[in-house]
Amino acid sequence: MAEAVGAVDMASRRIEAVLTTLKAFGRQDDGHLDAVNIKTVVDESVMLVRHEARGKCEVDVDVASDLPLVTASATGLSQVLVNLLQNSVQAFGNNSPQGHGPNGARITIRTEAVNQDEIILSVSDNGPGIPENLQEKIFRPYFTTKPQGQGTGLGLSISSDMLHRFGGDLTLRSRAGEGATFYIKLRRHDELSTHS
Ligand SMILES: Nc1ncnc2c1ncn2[C@@H]1O[C@H](COP(=O)(O)OP(=O)(O)OP(=O)(O)O)[C@@H](O)[C@H]1O
Ligand SMILES: [Mg+2]
Repeated sequence: MAEAVGAVDMASRRIEAVLTTLKAFGRQDDGHLDAVNIKTVVDESVMLVRHEARGKCEVDVDVASDLPLVTASATGLSQVLVNLLQNSVQAFGNNSPQGHGPNGARITIRTEAVNQDEIILSVSDNGPGIPENLQEKIFRPYFTTKPQGQGTGLGLSISSDMLHRFGGDLTLRSRAGEGATFYIKLRRHDELSTHS
């Protein structure tokens, strides 16, 4: 009985966490472009996939909280991050975290570059990687390698479209057997146009 209560308690706490996240996104964000703090959105996105990743892989975040703001919608950027994180978690399948080298199965989100105009964020995993002959195809709508009923094949095409809308883009570097790294390029928010 105590166990059941514990499970219910945990489930309700999880739901509460998700609701808090959703509400946080609700603040003034109807998808329009805004000045966005990357770290806030990264943390919220990781929280949304934490349950799915549990027992399958670790998720590391190496992103500073005081990065310059970027042009995006917080909801849209979170959708992109959640799509990428879910793809990585799913790529690990049901293998145990120990099966991926000394560091175990791992997803890392880090800042790759900050220059005058852009910030590049990466989401990388040490999963199976993507064979070269599929690397272009995976961005196409409806392309999936997942069993029927499990993937729509829309995740990457929607993510890529979303980033184009922000003036950025989504690229990939991967070798089969060596994991995959997706690069999210975002435009730095132009201070002068804050009031447009
Ligand atoms: N991190 C990754 N590691 C290995 N393969 C990947 C990774 N990310 C994407 N892929 C490959 O790219 C394909 C397309 O990904 P996409 O997110 O567009 O669709 P999906 O994940 O198959 O379906 P959905 O996103 O609707 O659940 C996947 O089916 C998978 O083969
Ligand atoms: Mg996907």
